[in-house]
Amino acid sequence: MPKTSPFDKPTIESRLSVRGTKWHRDAEDIIPLWLADPDYPLCPELKDVMREAIEEEYTIYGSDRDAREVMSAKIKRFNKLDIPADQVMLTQGVIPVMWLSAMHACRPGDEVIVTDPMYFPFFKAVDVTQTNPVYWKLKLEEGYKFDADRLNSLITPKTRLIYVCNPHNPAGRAMTKEELKGVADIAVDNDIYVMVDELWEDVRYDDVKHYSLAAINDEIADLTITSWGFSKMWSVPGLQAGYLGCTNKVMFDSLTKISGGILRGTNNISKAIAPIICSGEIDYWINDMNKYMAEVRDLVVKRLNEMGDFTIPHLEATYLMFPRFNYGLSSDILDKILLKEAKVSLNKGNIFGPEGEGHMRILTATSKGIMNEALDRIEKVIPLLEKMG
Ligand SMILES: Cc1ncc(COP(=O)(O)O)c(C=O)c1O
Repeated sequence: MPKTSPFDKPTIESRLSVRGTKWHRDAEDIIPLWLADPDYPLCPELKDVMREAIEEEYTIYGSDRDAREVMSAKIKRFNKLDIPADQVMLTQGVIPVMWLSAMHACRPGDEVIVTDPMYFPFFKAVDVTQTNPVYWKLKLEEGYKFDADRLNSLITPKTRLIYVCNPHNPAGRAMTKEELKGVADIAVDNDIYVMVDELWEDVRYDDVKHYSLAAINDEIADLTITSWGFSKMWSVPGLQAGYLGCTNKVMFDSLTKISGGILRGTNNISKAIAPIICSGEIDYWINDMNKYMAEVRDLVVKRLNEMGDFTIPHLEATYLMFPRFNYGLSSDILDKILLKEAKVSLNKGNIFGPEGEGHMRILTATSKGIMNEALDRIEKVIPLLEKMG
């Protein structure tokens, strides 16, 4: 008999038995598909390494050195970038790097390019650094293509930073080499810094490739801050671990200076799992999980198309689907109906920018059982959506 996939095992009951924001923000009868937090178990080898670290009582102050070395090696192997360990900084995930990059690149009043739609903490980073967002529109009807001409038309003498999210949340796209080259040329020609969030680099389907912007050429590498974290593929967002790296030592020193006394790297458990994650030793888990998630994706697309009127961007990377609900209803209204009548919580599309209005973001990193139950519930409210639209 074929073994049940570990990714197929999560049930509503089993997920409710774990503490955590996603399953406990709302009432227990709600299925939460809002936060980008997978429902999957931990990779067993990873769990063993964490257990060993606890048994060793590795909870005293720990050096960053070993983790920086393995991250530097992983950046070379996977991202095809030469960044010495001395220029890799351990971070509490990717979010602090958004702030730090703006602090390095900008003064208050400068302009920062953000995409619309985009993962909303980028907007927050713009806000807290008192810079001004300039929206680079990604259009659903263009398949969320990253149009370099459109980007170029937004550049002014005040543009100091471009935020790139690749693979992109919530568009679900991995940028092509050509698209990255378009960004690189514009940044280099205008001497603009770029912060690239590559958090989703290993969550991809159907042989879609990931390319790192800084690997395009040396000129763009010297303007780029690259960041990644363990959270999405390894089901460890609660550990808050990641890195930033740059080939430009002057820039790295500036980032270190700005962050000194404020950012404190990450915890020892994350440092303990860095070698096994960064070595590629347990990449079988990535392959199995992506394979399973591609099946969930296909299931969601099929069922949504059968039950109602949705425009669904092709999900080639990330586990976040961003369909437009074609009922003429705002994301706020859709959210209220889905929560109250369907007992399903999704993310409102409009928090990702004006282009997200009328969309809802659906987490697909769950079991087919949980997903089918959520889809059954959504199907039941389609007549209501039709009536209200
Ligand atoms: C694009 C992107 N960047 C950053 C984050 C935050 O991740 P972390 O908590 O690991 O910093 C997320 C979380 O979903 C994300 O989707």
